[in-house]
Amino acid sequence: MEKLLEVKGLKKTFYKKKIPFAAVDNVSFDLNKGECLGLVGESGCGKSTTAKIITHLTVPDSGSVLLEGAETLHVKGRQERELYRKVQMVFQTPQDSFDPRCSLGDGIMESMRNQGMQKRRAEERMYELLCMVELQREFASRYPHEVSGGQCQRAAIARALAPDPQLIICDEATSALDVTVQAQIVELLRKLQKERELSLLLISHDLALVQKLCDRVLVMYQGKIVEQGIPDEVIRHPKEEYTKMLVDSVF
Ligand SMILES: Nc1ncnc2c1ncn2[C@@H]1O[C@H](COP(=O)(O)OP(=O)(O)O)[C@@H](O)[C@H]1O
Ligand SMILES: [Mg+2]
Repeated sequence: MEKLLEVKGLKKTFYKKKIPFAAVDNVSFDLNKGECLGLVGESGCGKSTTAKIITHLTVPDSGSVLLEGAETLHVKGRQERELYRKVQMVFQTPQDSFDPRCSLGDGIMESMRNQGMQKRRAEERMYELLCMVELQREFASRYPHEVSGGQCQRAAIARALAPDPQLIICDEATSALDVTVQAQIVELLRKLQKERELSLLLISHDLALVQKLCDRVLVMYQGKIVEQGIPDEVIRHPKEEYTKMLVDSVF
């Protein structure tokens, strides 16, 4: 299998009341092309910080992040823009990640327009993307507050797909949705991932969700990856105490 992403020895220290603590503590993992990798662990264990380091929203203390073999951590300019294109994120509350004054269609087209794509071509592609995420054309002219959470999350996925990324990081992307809508979004992600050979890093506190969707799972606890493997195996035979607790709390 071909590696897409290699994360090596990531470290990030934050301070709580002036006392340092390692939010991400020597985290290393690989993600293959076309793979769906789960990252699970309780709230505060360092999942989002890991994602933010990969996407340049947070600067780590040390470590390395390679995309197709090339270091990405300290790239600037054109290379950084290329990283922003290749690695997209979908967040928990899509309503917050769209500009409330812009229609969903404009939001989806933004990255294409920024890349210099002509308006008509961008529009055409935006409608294709809406279709891909199973939203009708009329959603293009709706505003974020005029759609449901699930519909907005579909639009956010369309926007993430727009620049034809290699990797989409979903950070608790379904956590704010109710259970049936959550299942639909999961189904959509799985479909897109298979059809387009996308790689997915699915961050969730929900082990059952990860089991349904992911080829492999990393279990994170207090800033460290404490266990990894095929979800069914990890759930059936958890090796670490923390994983056992996590499994017991879900199943
Ligand atoms: N910008 C920040 N400043 C200080 N502490 C932070 C910051 N971001 C996250 N943290 C802390 O780092 C830890 C890990 O947070 P996070 O990566 O968001 O965890 P998760 O996504 O797994 O819930 C938490 O204790 C959180 O409070
Ligand atoms: Mg988080």
